[in-house]
Amino acid sequence: MSKRFDAERLVVATFAERPDLLARVFEPEIQSALPEFMRHDPGAALYYGDGHLEHYREFGLVAFDPAAPERPLARAFSVPFAFRDGTPGRDELPEGGWDEVIRWGYLDRTAGRRPTAVSALEIMVAPHLQGGGISRLMLNAMRDNARRLGFADLYGPLRPTLKDKEPLTPFAEYAVRRRADGLPWDPWVRVHVQAGAQIVKPAPTSMVVAGTIAEWSAWTRLRFDKSGPTIVPGALSPVHVSLEQNHAVYIEPNLWVHHRLSP
Ligand SMILES: CC(C)(COP(=O)(O)OP(=O)(O)OC[C@H]1O[C@@H](n2cnc3c(N)ncnc32)[C@H](O)[C@@H]1OP(=O)(O)O)[C@@H](O)C(=O)NCCC(=O)NCCS
Repeated sequence: MSKRFDAERLVVATFAERPDLLARVFEPEIQSALPEFMRHDPGAALYYGDGHLEHYREFGLVAFDPAAPERPLARAFSVPFAFRDGTPGRDELPEGGWDEVIRWGYLDRTAGRRPTAVSALEIMVAPHLQGGGISRLMLNAMRDNARRLGFADLYGPLRPTLKDKEPLTPFAEYAVRRRADGLPWDPWVRVHVQAGAQIVKPAPTSMVVAGTIAEWSAWTRLRFDKSGPTIVPGALSPVHVSLEQNHAVYIEPNLWVHHRLSP
């Protein structure tokens, strides 16, 4: 389903079409768009780990400039899952957001259950190209791709881009904040709403990253010398630090949105 975007000269392809680019989108040029500690959520392994990602090639997208087709500039991943199909526990989107929908997708795949919806997992743009409108192209491509695969509903546990600038604000309050024109205040939530999404609800425990104090120091290059809620750059809420127990835990809140896809 290669698709050319004239405005940006970019082509978006699935990893089924460009399997050669799959490893490359995990190189630092794109991967550095998120802080290091975000790569230590063990829940990710059931989607991104060896032996799993290859099952999702139709659900992953890569953008590149046709003049340099070997160099990926942005990536997007999504996961199919069974929702509101009678499967027990699947009537509502999970509070456990990103981690939980990855588990659902994995359980469905291993049980041979037919997926009925898709969840976005991420859109990531190479930092040097951010602000150029590529995220909108990727989101539209993800919507088109889910539709092409026969789905009518695309959900997503969003990571609001600017929440890390005010980690102490309660997430539910931040998520519904609007600008004077009525659009969402957060730019990434706004992009989704402008593309046609409805805000559903927060996912308060969407990603859980736990580690020892030494691991957290290595991931963040910070010294943790006090127990209690701790502000870490890039985190959307405070990290819970316990020097006494030698651990720190970050629980990332995300925001569930729903794109109803017209046929
Ligand atoms: C979120 C992300 C995908 C946006 O991609 P992008 O290509 O830079 O975004 P766009 O250029 O399409 O801009 C989209 C909107 O975000 C705004 N924006 C982009 N970068 C911004 C920044 N650093 N600060 C404030 N606003 C920003 C743009 O102004 C635009 O808002 P508008 O409605 O006012 O026009 C990108 O920043 C990224 O890869 N971040 C790291 C990964 C991540 O958090 N992904 C989202 C969760 S999965």
